[in-house]
Amino acid sequence: MSIEPTRADRFSFGLWTVGWTGADPFGVATRKALDPIEAVNRLSDLGAYGITFHDNDLIPFDATAGERTQILDSFRAALEQTGLKVPMVTTNLFSHPVFKDGGFTSNDRSIRRFALSKVLHNIDLAAELGAETFVMWGGREGSEYDGSKDLAAALERMKEGVDTAAGYIKEKGYSLRIALEPKPNEPRGDIFLPTVGHGLAFINELEHGDIVGLNPETGHEQMAGLNFTHGIAQALWAGKLFHIDLNGQRGIKYDQDLVFGHGDLTSAFFTVDLLENGFPNGGPRYEGPRHFDYKPSRTEGYDGVWESARANMSMYLLLKERAAAFRADPQVRQALEAAGVFELGQPTLAAGESAADLLDDASAFAGFDAHAAAERNFGFVRLNQLAIEHLLGAR
Ligand code: GCO
Ligand code: MN
Ligand code: MN
Repeated sequence: MSIEPTRADRFSFGLWTVGWTGADPFGVATRKALDPIEAVNRLSDLGAYGITFHDNDLIPFDATAGERTQILDSFRAALEQTGLKVPMVTTNLFSHPVFKDGGFTSNDRSIRRFALSKVLHNIDLAAELGAETFVMWGGREGSEYDGSKDLAAALERMKEGVDTAAGYIKEKGYSLRIALEPKPNEPRGDIFLPTVGHGLAFINELEHGDIVGLNPETGHEQMAGLNFTHGIAQALWAGKLFHIDLNGQRGIKYDQDLVFGHGDLTSAFFTVDLLENGFPNGGPRYEGPRHFDYKPSRTEGYDGVWESARANMSMYLLLKERAAAFRADPQVRQALEAAGVFELGQPTLAAGESAADLLDDASAFAGFDAHAAAERNFGFVRLNQLAIEHLLGAR
């Protein structure tokens, strides 16, 4: 397998990723601004198939209508020339000071009306560019102080915002779906919908939840000490893994946005194994783009930026190769068998069996030798060693 990416791999990057100039809370930019047209050309040359952006990555917040048209015309021309797609568009409701207390959940109603209008305008643009997914990351939707928000009202306003946007998509007949992106904190002290689980529960409360799913990010779950692969697995199982943000994170700390695989490599292996090979017993598969949301470290110049973009894709392809070898290995197959991984795919009850039937089955309870069953060696450690050996290329 080649580690040279092709369009068929469906790799995409945020314009804000390679375009991050390195400004952080402690220092100014370490790189000059990147021309979006150059980003399109370079990403296309590297083998990516898509570019994504926030409205204001491309069109400055204060741009006039004329400037907006001009910027979009040249961006569209670059897309046509390269064949690069725009699979996802998102809205910046966090940079401008007007959003300091959030967009959809700001305590100020006029700001909420402005934020929602900004999203609706951007939905039109997303549809026009042929995007399939509209991401909503509510980085400023949250608080530093619990007393500063009526939390139930905030959730109501969030629901109102998402439902209004989803209803608008349906009304216009756009083939777009919304993907909410959970994050536990940063920039707010606590962000609403902090994890995949909170996101899934929120979607169930929506009126238009059928076109609302999730865009989980590797580092965001890991910042909360959670298992990213488990998170995307539950989203997939619920039919809600609409999009994905792949990157690297080393433990519970600020959002590092490292290159995919440069954080928890073992977890990255199992993430790719799930995305590429699916659940061992079958089930829903992820069909969307492999989107990277990382930040080229501020120590790097532009050579390093393009190196790091390439690194995300090669890392993914290397892991894909290792995961395929892992699944194909007869010893792994045997270890999975011994571990009961396929057995878990069998329903606990027989077809048509009821709770009463189960209670009538003496072999299940009174006659069951729990002590003997407790002796079972599942062999999970051996299975994991095999996985790591494949990951290391030692098999
Ligand atoms: C972050 C987020 C963002 C979002 C982006 C898409 O932590 O900054 O991951 O990068 O993914 O705003 O809406
Ligand atoms: Mn992030
Ligand atoms: Mn993200």
